[in-house]
Amino acid sequence: MKALRLFLAGCAALVSLGASCSTDPLQTGTEKSTPEQKGDEQGQAESGVPEKPESNGSKTLLVWYSFTGNSTAIAKALRAHASVDVLEIKPAEEGLDYAANNYAIGSSLISTIRKNPSSAASYPAIKEVEVSFDDYDTVIIVTPLWWSQMAAPMQSFLFKYGGKMAGKTIGLVVTSSSSGISGVEQDAKRLVPQGSFVSESLWIRSAKVGSAAELTAAWYDKMFPGNNENASMKVTITAGGKSFTAEIEDSETGKAFMGKLPLTLEMTELNGNEKYCYGVSLPRNDKHYDRIEAGDMMLYSGDCIVLFYGSAGGYNYTRIGKVADVAGLADALGNGSVNVKFEKQ
Ligand SMILES: Cc1cc2nc3c(=O)[nH]c(=O)nc-3n(C[C@H](O)[C@H](O)[C@H](O)COP(=O)(O)O)c2cc1C
Repeated sequence: MKALRLFLAGCAALVSLGASCSTDPLQTGTEKSTPEQKGDEQGQAESGVPEKPESNGSKTLLVWYSFTGNSTAIAKALRAHASVDVLEIKPAEEGLDYAANNYAIGSSLISTIRKNPSSAASYPAIKEVEVSFDDYDTVIIVTPLWWSQMAAPMQSFLFKYGGKMAGKTIGLVVTSSSSGISGVEQDAKRLVPQGSFVSESLWIRSAKVGSAAELTAAWYDKMFPGNNENASMKVTITAGGKSFTAEIEDSETGKAFMGKLPLTLEMTELNGNEKYCYGVSLPRNDKHYDRIEAGDMMLYSGDCIVLFYGSAGGYNYTRIGKVADVAGLADALGNGSVNVKFEKQ
């Protein structure tokens, strides 16, 4: 309630911003462009041809929607820091003022989705996009918050394409005046149910958008360390009061695992040689291992982390990484269930 109160207090300022709402493409910064200019710049928006990501050949797609320009500024800051292809979501109907009359249009769009979230008819039309999701292993979503939910046009995009993001690493960046973003996180997980979300979303209040460069850089480097060539792929594993170093694979699976840290898992004993824990979904690329050694960290069935402290074999896994020095590992893990903490070095 406090957040809603703060938001309403900020509405007057927003209404005046809304009057000059902008959907500027990233390359024009915060300057306003008319639809005609945009059509000229991109050579497609006004011709009825679907929008394609502006590509620099990255494996990360940044998709954003913005009504008053804050998400555009955030997307621009992220693109300056990281190698990402960018795609802007645009409502099919141009020129709507979602904030006018006490946010009447925005409120009605969100309430229609809330009433029937599983019907395509509940989602406002957006301009067609043409994305080859096979080209990307990571998707970063940058969206405003509307009435404590994800802004309706971004929900439309994810309703249509969320299924194609199965198994991909997903990062969420949300901007709001004051309201917390848990409702937007829930929307994202509902619309991208098989996405492998990084452990922390980034929340940038409208008043802090001026610091978007520092905020997004810190978040990106923490959540996507495998995308930064200088970042360490080492983790510290702590159990039974002892710590071990593991080297994580430079793979889609390894990077997604790093994005979920820190993690503390209650791991179950099996066969006198492994501890396992279900519930951590990571991209899967299984192969058959004839032999597994103590220290191997594996992914089983796409959502089970397995830490071996003895040798084994004969199953299909995706390798996550390996404990460098296993001396004392079996003792530290003990005979039964054990809490194991994984954190970045
Ligand atoms: C329809 C509508 C509803 C909004 N609802 C909320 C809200 O419930 N809480 C809040 O803190 N901000 C709310 N806002 C403010 C936006 O989340 C905030 O200004 C955000 O930074 C705008 O991002 P943008 O410039 O990319 O559109 C709302 C804005 C609109 C247009």
